[in-house]
Amino acid sequence: MGFEKDLLLLGLVCLLGKCVSDCKFGYSKNEKEECVDTDECKENLYPCGNNSNCLNTAGSYFCQCLSGFEHGGGSQDFEPFSGLQCQDRNECTDTKNNKDICGKKGTCQNVDGSYWCKCEEGYTNSGKNSTPCSDINECKDAENNKDICGKKGTCQNVDGSYWCKCEEGYTNSGNKSTPCSDINECRDAENNKDICGKKGTCQNVDGSYWCKCEEGYTTYGNERTLCLELDCDSFSEDGRPSQSLGGLADILSMMRNSCLSLSNPSTAAVGKVDGEALLEKLFTATEEILSPGQLDSSDGVTELLDTMEHSILLIGPQLKANRTKIETTETDVEIAVQKGNIRPTGPIHLMTENASLDTDWTTAAGMGTYPGFALAALLTYKNLEISMNESFEDLKEYKKDGVEPSFHVSSRVVSVVVSNPSTQKLNRAVNITLRHLQDKVESSEMRYICAYWNETGVWSTDGCSPQHSNATHTLCTCEHLSSFAVLMALYPMEHTFGLLLVTKIGLTISLLCLMLCILTFLFCRSIQGTRTTIHLHLCICLFLADLIFLAGISRTKPEGACRFVAVMLHFFFMGVFTWMLLEGVQLYRMVVLVFNATIRPLYLYVTGYGAPLAIVIISGIIRPTGYGTEKYCWLSLKDGLIWSFYGPICLIIILNVFFFIVTVWKLAQKFTSLNPDLSKLRKIKAFTVTAIAQMCILGLMWVFGAFLFQEGTTIVAYVFTILNSLQGALIFIMHCLLSKQVRDEYAHFLSCICTPQKKRYSDFSTTNPSSSQSQGSRSGQHTGESQI
Ligand SMILES: *[C@@H]1O[C@H](CO)[C@@H](O)[C@H](O)[C@H]1NC(C)=O
Ligand SMILES: *[C@@H]1O[C@H](CO)[C@@H](O)[C@H](O)[C@H]1NC(C)=O
Ligand SMILES: *[C@@H]1O[C@H](CO)[C@@H](O)[C@H](O)[C@H]1NC(C)=O
Ligand SMILES: *[C@@H]1O[C@H](CO)[C@@H](O)[C@H](O)[C@H]1NC(C)=O
Ligand SMILES: *[C@@H]1O[C@H](CO)[C@@H](O)[C@H](O)[C@H]1NC(C)=O
Ligand SMILES: *[C@@H]1O[C@H](CO)[C@@H](O)[C@H](O)[C@H]1NC(C)=O
Ligand SMILES: *[C@@H]1O[C@H](CO)[C@@H](O)[C@H](O)[C@H]1NC(C)=O
Ligand SMILES: *[C@@H]1O[C@H](CO)[C@@H](O)[C@H](O)[C@H]1NC(C)=O
Repeated sequence: MGFEKDLLLLGLVCLLGKCVSDCKFGYSKNEKEECVDTDECKENLYPCGNNSNCLNTAGSYFCQCLSGFEHGGGSQDFEPFSGLQCQDRNECTDTKNNKDICGKKGTCQNVDGSYWCKCEEGYTNSGKNSTPCSDINECKDAENNKDICGKKGTCQNVDGSYWCKCEEGYTNSGNKSTPCSDINECRDAENNKDICGKKGTCQNVDGSYWCKCEEGYTTYGNERTLCLELDCDSFSEDGRPSQSLGGLADILSMMRNSCLSLSNPSTAAVGKVDGEALLEKLFTATEEILSPGQLDSSDGVTELLDTMEHSILLIGPQLKANRTKIETTETDVEIAVQKGNIRPTGPIHLMTENASLDTDWTTAAGMGTYPGFALAALLTYKNLEISMNESFEDLKEYKKDGVEPSFHVSSRVVSVVVSNPSTQKLNRAVNITLRHLQDKVESSEMRYICAYWNETGVWSTDGCSPQHSNATHTLCTCEHLSSFAVLMALYPMEHTFGLLLVTKIGLTISLLCLMLCILTFLFCRSIQGTRTTIHLHLCICLFLADLIFLAGISRTKPEGACRFVAVMLHFFFMGVFTWMLLEGVQLYRMVVLVFNATIRPLYLYVTGYGAPLAIVIISGIIRPTGYGTEKYCWLSLKDGLIWSFYGPICLIIILNVFFFIVTVWKLAQKFTSLNPDLSKLRKIKAFTVTAIAQMCILGLMWVFGAFLFQEGTTIVAYVFTILNSLQGALIFIMHCLLSKQVRDEYAHFLSCICTPQKKRYSDFSTTNPSSSQSQGSRSGQHTGESQI
């Protein structure tokens, strides 16, 4: 073999070289006789065999397998001429490296000295054959990205693939990896049924469709809404009972024009309507008509409410926003609109400043055909309650114990509008929470009721009821919709009528008696004297006080007059007490200081009228606003002014009690004395009893009077009134009817009237009082009382 011959030759050369050159093994001499390394790899032919490299080292050399080859030994390196051959390694089956050498989606292919990965569809190793396969991101991939899903699709990469998410109105039905394209809703067999209603023609556009309606029908400028019939006659001015409402006529004509243009196919195309602007115009136009004092008839109110409801129903579907809120000085409205092919569900909460509405979309949209939109609106009128503060005649059921209450509107008036055409019987009641105009809790005298404005122009309540009421709010639940408010049913205090009657009759009797007393005390000559003067002025004070009480105690308006009434009442009732004190003083003097029992009239007047005047003036200066309250024209109970009445009264009563006790004691002594002047003593006794009775009644009356103006219960009012009436009667009976002198004069007077023949005589004796009075009284003082 050639190989063995080579080996033999090599050995020969080596031996020769050694002998000749003397260099180390693996080295040889060059031209300059120096020993240099021999490159055995170049000198020898194929020292390592196929698929391997020969590597020269200093003085030696070795073999190494190429990458991807192996020779079966422990390492890649091996001895030349060892007989070993490097052979291809199968990377694909190599148990050490095999795991995921090409990834999960690649198949390993072994080749001589190497391998490559074959990737599944949707995976790549980007041309580098020996790397694992990974997902291709088709969406990010620059080259493919252009319109891979079309203009209306969004690419979504997934492992090994991608898909396109289409916008509404576009589809790639069947193959998710194809570009999105317009859906032709009009041709689409499944949806085609009445997509535009019976009076509409479907028009496909890129990504959507719209309905072209016949004359008289409209989609309110919306896409995807059925062609609905539009009745512009509800904005017609004909046949309206109150055409006097100028502002309403303008609104009606504006809304009618808008309605007509909506129902005209050439002007009502999609995108042309501007509901927001129209709504703004509507509420600006209603400002004037709603300003206070403009609406004065219930017909006018009904028409206005009706027009506003129809207008909102017309404008609502034209609005672009889901929620619209407009506030003007007279109104506050919130409108919620839902559009789309799917019937909306879920709760609705609408809120204006003093009212809120809770319902749901199912109620607002109704159960009938869904036209492609639904709306709910809450409209608060800020001043309408003044114009609607009447027409309560339908509320008979709120009678209580036969008493018919009086009603007030006690919240703002609100209108609830929904697109549901049948609002007369909702399948779920709506909740309306209304803020009261005044914070007030319900009581036996007052109830809150939820009422709606019946189209006949009266407040009604059937189908509406209050769920819950506190001082500030009432929650109303209603089964139908229109305009609502919370009313206040005021039940007059029980027996008020009776009390009024008793007061009137009692005070009238009292006034009559006092009148008689005054006349008697003035003209009856035989009883003139200090005591009669006192009685006279006590009666005058009581008479005027009662008269003012009867006429003015509850005339609280105007304020000035009420204050005057309170001042006069204070003065005259005070006067009654000061004169009563004088009576006590006089009795005391008559019994204890028998000798000088007369008092000069001037002193009497100064005390009897001066003291009350001083008290009133001082009170008026200290508390000028304390006279006249909201309920009564009397002294205010709040700021202590009432004590300028009760303080002096208490003092007077205490003093009088003292005088009376002393008087009674002295009287008793005199009765038991040795020779009592019985007739005079009996007279004084009668006077004393009268005075005590009078004081008791007057004192007691004002004890009740203290409660009367405070919490005004019926019993107190009755007692007060009856005691008050008793005063006059008591004075009349005790001082006039029971007095023999007076009786005689009465008899004489009556006989004069009945028998005119004796008139001449009477002229001399009793009548002609104006000339004889001062004389009489003076003589009375001398004759009558100084004797006692
Ligand atoms: C080495 O390779 C050559 C050419 O590829 C071939 O002809 C020869 O047989 C191979 N030698 C061995 C020992 O395989
Ligand atoms: C879906 O479309 C893509 C891209 O046009 C195509 O490669 C693929 O084969 C299609 N698949 C089916 C299931 O038709
Ligand atoms: C209106 O409501 C729809 C449905 O609830 C919602 O998808 C949309 O984003 C809303 N639009 C606005 C402007 O709030
Ligand atoms: C109305 O209020 C009542 C009682 O508070 C409640 O049970 C009902 O669910 C409410 N209805 C709506 C529509 O909110
Ligand atoms: C309604 O009228 C009554 C008297 O008739 C009045 O007291 C009340 O304040 C009025 N209410 C409104 C809201 O105008
Ligand atoms: C709401 O009611 C309260 C109390 O009646 C009132 O003070 C307030 O001004 C009202 N707000 C509006 C916007 O009407
Ligand atoms: C209005 O009142 C009348 C009579 O009270 C009644 O018959 C009618 O149903 C009411 N209208 C509404 C809408 O409730
Ligand atoms: C009264 O009721 C309303 C609504 O139900 C609530 O918001 C308010 O806090 C209540 N007021 C009081 C004083 O309880």
